[in-house]
Amino acid sequence: MSATEERSYVLGTEDAELVRLGNQHQTWVQACYDLFARAGLRTGDRVLDLGCGPGFTTMELARLVGPTGSVVAIDQSQRFLDHLAAVARHAGTTWARPLAAQLEHVDLPPASFDAAYSRWLFCWLTDAEPALANTVRALRPGGALLLHEYLHWGSMRLVPECPAFARAVQGCMASWPASGATIDFAMQVPSIAERHGLRIEHFAPIARLGAVGSLEWRWLTEFFANYLPKLVDRELLTGPEVDAALTSLRERTTRGLGYCYTPTVAAVVLRKP
Ligand SMILES: C[S@@+](CC[C@H](N)C(=O)[O-])C[C@H]1O[C@@H](n2cnc3c(N)ncnc32)[C@H](O)[C@@H]1O
Repeated sequence: MSATEERSYVLGTEDAELVRLGNQHQTWVQACYDLFARAGLRTGDRVLDLGCGPGFTTMELARLVGPTGSVVAIDQSQRFLDHLAAVARHAGTTWARPLAAQLEHVDLPPASFDAAYSRWLFCWLTDAEPALANTVRALRPGGALLLHEYLHWGSMRLVPECPAFARAVQGCMASWPASGATIDFAMQVPSIAERHGLRIEHFAPIARLGAVGSLEWRWLTEFFANYLPKLVDRELLTGPEVDAALTSLRERTTRGLGYCYTPTVAAVVLRKP
């Protein structure tokens, strides 16, 4: 990929998305460590971070595996990887290496990694199979594929219920297939395991209820503020529908009342025999 070519994805790679991903990471970092521990990640491991974005999880993995290990962080966005490279340079984690590539095309050494982690990459791919095959080939026997992917994105709602917000969720749901995404990618875990000869070691839902002021609330409001305006251009929501949804979120935030029920995420560990 040339230095000037920027491959974006449906949510974009501009500054607002980079900041949003950082806050999103804060919301989910505990779930990362739970999954890393469950899969037995340890000092010295050689790990892949697939679709690493700006590298927030890459840095967690780098601290976990330490200088005797390594993290190869793959993303198609040079802009995101530049951010990671700068952060890793400041932190002195020379064993965290950004790699600009599309996962389905990258040439990884076979059977060389102890684990591969991915959060919300596979759901955006039109055809995840080549990327999965590439990943499984790169794992050593006994290595693990760790995923955080949506199991039921549409479970998201406000509590108490809010029709304007429910309409916005519908608009988002219509947008995913239109952009080639399979948002509830985790629904495919059993068939992926079967096709790729992996053992399902862990497969469990994570559902959360976040009060106004919580990390979950911020996660949700930042996502909607960034994404809903894009749906007006794509004629999946009208301007007034977007205004109504964002106004209802702002009102609840101001009043300090209410909860969001977050999209249901799956935590997954698939083991290569
Ligand atoms: C929702 S972001 C998640 C980023 C990161 N995993 C996180 O949780 O903060 C999805 C990322 O996948 C990257 N991506 C999309 N398609 C890709 C592909 N085919 N190969 C590599 N990266 C890809 C995007 O550039 C973006 O950084």
